Amino acid sequence: MGKDVIIACDFSSAKDTFDFLDQFTEEKPFVKIGMELYYAEGPSIVKEIKKRGHKIFLDLKLHDIPNTVKKAMSVLSSLDVDMTNLHAAGTVDMMKAAVEGLTKEDGTRPILIAVTQLTSTSEERMQNELLINASINDTIVKYAENAKAAGLDGVVCSPLEAGMVKDACGKPFITVTPGVRFADGEVGDQVRVTTPEKAREIGSDYIVVGRPVTQAEDPVAAYRRCVKEFVG
Ligand code: C5P
Repeated sequence: MGKDVIIACDFSSAKDTFDFLDQFTEEKPFVKIGMELYYAEGPSIVKEIKKRGHKIFLDLKLHDIPNTVKKAMSVLSSLDVDMTNLHAAGTVDMMKAAVEGLTKEDGTRPILIAVTQLTSTSEERMQNELLINASINDTIVKYAENAKAAGLDGVVCSPLEAGMVKDACGKPFITVTPGVRFADGEVGDQVRVTTPEKAREIGSDYIVVGRPVTQAEDPVAAYRRCVKEFVG
């Protein structure tokens, strides 16, 4: 499977998104559409970006009862996205239902990955508020194993966790990793960051990069630098 750079299109309107994407005249980057843009613009934003020839990771992080997730996934599948996700905390049954809902009549489906523990959740909060008494790393590995058992393709995790997920679930199990910064760039609100080059060394399959590209003076040059450092 090819490694790729996914640009997080964290914009609040279709106009801002298209103004950004219009700058890419030579390449068609893989883009991530998150809750902000999807809730603002609805399914039409997915169809429009797809029509322009981009691959799409629809990052809506579903988490509900199995039947509801199955039906919602079937709707997302009809949008013809390339990758989507859910919360592993919804249990193996919910994840299995998601795979069923996502699978089209011809047996194909988008890549489905699970969020293990959000990177905003600290071990302390997980133990004190959620009463999960394991370590955060053990929880991440167990949730990744559950995702694999349910038939999912991989997980979203910090690049620093990609190695242990690969050790537990095997090399083909996909790791999609946000929290990427250039060595000479601003870190912003991300805490555990790595460079595209380091993410490649650790074993990420896809890096998700937002502000280092979207807020760059020259976004196309920043994207190309990411691809060069990550894919080679
Ligand atoms: O701008 P930046 O590169 O920090 O954007 C990272 C993207 O990845 C954002 O869309 C953010 O919501 C997402 N993300 C993350 N950490 C996670 C899951 C998703 O930063 N654990």
